[in-house]
Amino acid sequence: MRIPFIAGNWKMYKTTAEAHHFAEELKTMYGETDVRAAICAPFTQLETLVRDFAGTGIGVGAQNVYFEKEGAFTGEISVPMLEEIGVDYCIVGHSERRQYFNETDETVNRKLKALLETKIRPILCVGEVLEQRDAGKEKEVVSGQVRAALEGITAEQAERVVIAYEPVWAIGTGKTATPQQANEMCGCIRDTLEELFDDAVADRIIIQYGGSVKPENATDIMNMEEIDGALVGGASLDPAKFSEIINF
Ligand code: 13P
Repeated sequence: MRIPFIAGNWKMYKTTAEAHHFAEELKTMYGETDVRAAICAPFTQLETLVRDFAGTGIGVGAQNVYFEKEGAFTGEISVPMLEEIGVDYCIVGHSERRQYFNETDETVNRKLKALLETKIRPILCVGEVLEQRDAGKEKEVVSGQVRAALEGITAEQAERVVIAYEPVWAIGTGKTATPQQANEMCGCIRDTLEELFDDAVADRIIIQYGGSVKPENATDIMNMEEIDGALVGGASLDPAKFSEIINF
């Protein structure tokens, strides 16, 4: 049984005061649910959110990390630094980081390995760009990203990785993949996991869909067999919308 997991990715939005306000609002709306929820926030808002969400069951995640433990790496944040704050998750390999900040399959792999030495669960993002889909290469691309990211990672470790399928053409564009398209790609990721590990392991790994998820389309997406959750950008900035998605 895979427990549905819905995470918000705030990207570079919200100051500390705004984050605190969001948390207070979300807490008034968040009740009994079988769904796991988390907010992935900018580094400077993590401590506030960990404090604000303590005891609520709502998790907190970072959006990036560096793979070295410490050193002369100006501007970077390490895994032990995140651990000390008490974050539960960390996004790795988001397409915006691949596109604007030189994230590669190799750095994604190193970051996953560094996180998997700790209790922090990585949320690994994969997804094709429009030209790759138009060329019929989406499965090859996404399966290749999963293989590269999980290289040298054991089955036991892999079960702690959440995988988010985020087609780049559906991010922030209002253009959602159809539930069928999303399901097919999440199925392709699960087939890849089966080849890398085995059926049982592949069956336990949480696979999310991300790309213009909103309250209006969350139910159809979440009802698909291979989709276990969502990684929500824009709609996670509004506590009412995020709470509606959690209660899909
Ligand atoms: P949007 O939901 O704004 O399309 O963003 C998706 C995303 O990139 C989540 O990581």
